[in-house]
Amino acid sequence: MVDTDAYIQGLMVTNPLVEPIIRSAIQALQPPSESRGLDAGCGIGLQALLLAEAVGPVGHITGLDLSPQFLAYARETGERAGLSDRLSFQAGDVRELPFDDDAFDWAWSTNCVGYAPLEPLPLVVELARVVKPGGSVAILAWSSQMLLPGFPLLESRLNATSSGIAPFTRGSRPESHFLRALGWFRDAGLEECSVQTFVSDAHAPLSGELGRALIALIEMRWPGVEPELTQQDRVAYRRLCLPESPEFILNHPDYYAFFTYSMFRGRVSRRPGE
Ligand SMILES: C[S@@+](CC[C@H](N)C(=O)[O-])C[C@H]1O[C@@H](n2cnc3c(N)ncnc32)[C@H](O)[C@@H]1O
Repeated sequence: MVDTDAYIQGLMVTNPLVEPIIRSAIQALQPPSESRGLDAGCGIGLQALLLAEAVGPVGHITGLDLSPQFLAYARETGERAGLSDRLSFQAGDVRELPFDDDAFDWAWSTNCVGYAPLEPLPLVVELARVVKPGGSVAILAWSSQMLLPGFPLLESRLNATSSGIAPFTRGSRPESHFLRALGWFRDAGLEECSVQTFVSDAHAPLSGELGRALIALIEMRWPGVEPELTQQDRVAYRRLCLPESPEFILNHPDYYAFFTYSMFRGRVSRRPGE
């Protein structure tokens, strides 16, 4: 069972690294001011808040998620940010959105639609259904990470473990991998499909906030990895990746790391005559 409090804590702690990426993606997407957008799989609403800022006081964002706990947290965060008049949060399933056709000007989903294990194409079709012709559908997800500068082979071997390839499961079809989303968009009949990758990076000396965010990322990236490592890699992993180690890599004066999110987007086709 997922520990909701720990999960929320993880999202909050990593947010200083994720937020700059989300801001860049929103800037690239340019949601029109006064528009109505959907954030599908909104979690605790961190992106919905930024989207609400982008659409201005007359715009509106609907955040949808399966989890009532996340939605309650999102509502509180929206109130604290003074944005609750342009935000609403609703329980629902991205596989069957509880909205009419053409209900939104655009739709967005971060780390949900396109993220294993749900079959992606029907979800993109469902997002497109609720967006008006001419509006955009955008999905974003984590796409790569370099956290161990100077140790690329160790990092590759950590990434090659079953914990390292999460959320992509062994045996899943290559076409289901998030970085193949152009194919889903094309098959969903979306137009002007494109993809763009955004980076967030950090270097020494790290602020306390960024240090905590990177520690959380390292823990999220390779959880429970040790049983799958050789003895030599296990020693190196403990030396470099555990905060209690005297040689913890984040304490190195030359430390530099980055990670990326990729955003796929397409436009819902106009009907003949529009
Ligand atoms: C990895 S989290 C991402 C949350 C948020 N978008 C973010 O990036 O911080 C995935 C979210 O999708 C939600 N989710 C998973 N399956 C869903 C479904 N079938 N319908 C709606 N939400 C779903 C989860 O509850 C969770 O909040």
